[in-house]
Amino acid sequence: MYNPISGFSKLSKTEKVKWLLDTYFTNKDQAETLVTQYWNSDQKLQKLHDEFIENTITNYYLPLGVAPNFKINNQLYTIPMAIEESSVVAAASKAAKFWLNRGGFKAEVISTEKIGQVHFTYTGNFENLERFFNSVKPQLISSTTHITNNMKRRGGGILDIELRNKTEELKDYYQLHATFETLDAMGANFINSCLEQFAETLKNEADKSLNGQLDIVMSILSNYVPNCLVRAEVSCPISELKSKDISKPELFALKFKQAVSIAEVEPYRAVTHNKGIMNGIDAVVLATGNDFRAVEAGVHAYAARNGNYTSLTHCAIDDDVFKFWVEIPLALGTVGGLTNLHPLVKFSLELLENPSAKDLMKVVAVAGLAQNFAAVKSLTTTGIQEGHMKMHLINILNQYEATENEKSELITYFKTNVVTHSAVVEAIENIRK
Ligand code: MEV
Repeated sequence: MYNPISGFSKLSKTEKVKWLLDTYFTNKDQAETLVTQYWNSDQKLQKLHDEFIENTITNYYLPLGVAPNFKINNQLYTIPMAIEESSVVAAASKAAKFWLNRGGFKAEVISTEKIGQVHFTYTGNFENLERFFNSVKPQLISSTTHITNNMKRRGGGILDIELRNKTEELKDYYQLHATFETLDAMGANFINSCLEQFAETLKNEADKSLNGQLDIVMSILSNYVPNCLVRAEVSCPISELKSKDISKPELFALKFKQAVSIAEVEPYRAVTHNKGIMNGIDAVVLATGNDFRAVEAGVHAYAARNGNYTSLTHCAIDDDVFKFWVEIPLALGTVGGLTNLHPLVKFSLELLENPSAKDLMKVVAVAGLAQNFAAVKSLTTTGIQEGHMKMHLINILNQYEATENEKSELITYFKTNVVTHSAVVEAIENIRK
């Protein structure tokens, strides 16, 4: 048990590290080397990263990989993916290649509306509040012109503000439910600034005409964006599914569809099924500097929108045509936030040929669909462990500090032998005897 520290955030980075070493580590030299070896020698670059958050002590690396050969609406993409899980990029690349000569992926943005709410309490008569809201609504909008001018000029801005009576769910609870078009920006700052201005104007006006019966609780955007939707799809005649590992395409298609149907009705499976989709989605969201927590929260809420948590992808077989698609809400940005700051985010966006937010929504949805296709294909044919463990092999070898020679020998050996943790350990021990 250590004494609490005050003023930690004011210490320099070196002082912070020293406090950590003195307080928590027995082998201080080893811990210090670990932390400092990840500092970038380019001071300017390091400072940029230090300033992203509070109390930075070092950098935490994740691999940035790429999955080439994604044909989306007849255009070829190489998709950047930041992720630690060994099999994800390989699976995405495999799925991209599989669909490359089967028509590729089709993607379309269905809607782009974002949402924000001012939550407030009101203790008076609802008709009075409604009348007051209707009279003050133009003022709510005009009070934000200093925030919305630029966005409006580019074609976006506030779409509408509604008054919502939530008193059946919670005593005295009402909302301003506002909708926004934020174009290529994810829009969190824009929306939150507008909402805080709505709240201020609402409170000021209410104090004049509603006898202090209205109180603001909070103003914040919603990460649930069911009207910011994108759809991605693949389809081909069943006979064209035939490939190296699909010898009986009809059987494959039926089993694949059955696996998706199981995820549609069984929440335990749906969560893992959707986790596989998020493997692809989060990796691209992260590589392009977007907020993966916001995306995760919104996507899972959407998966449960009808009261049961269900699959985000769907499959149909019509007239011998296999069709597989995803429909998901994605609030993404290609301007603002980290997009103009993090050098690798800029690199990733340039790799995607500087997409609009709508284009990025399509790419991200496709990455999710591809990932799910690869996972369900493996699950319903070879099983997931074959590919997974092959990719994991190198992690196990690294864990046992295998030399380059040992690695190359064992990678060859495991091309024809089943990879399990114990089999790899045994093989290393055999070589080292
Ligand atoms: C592993 O990260 C993802 C899978 O479990 C997804 C799935 O089961 O569909 C393979």
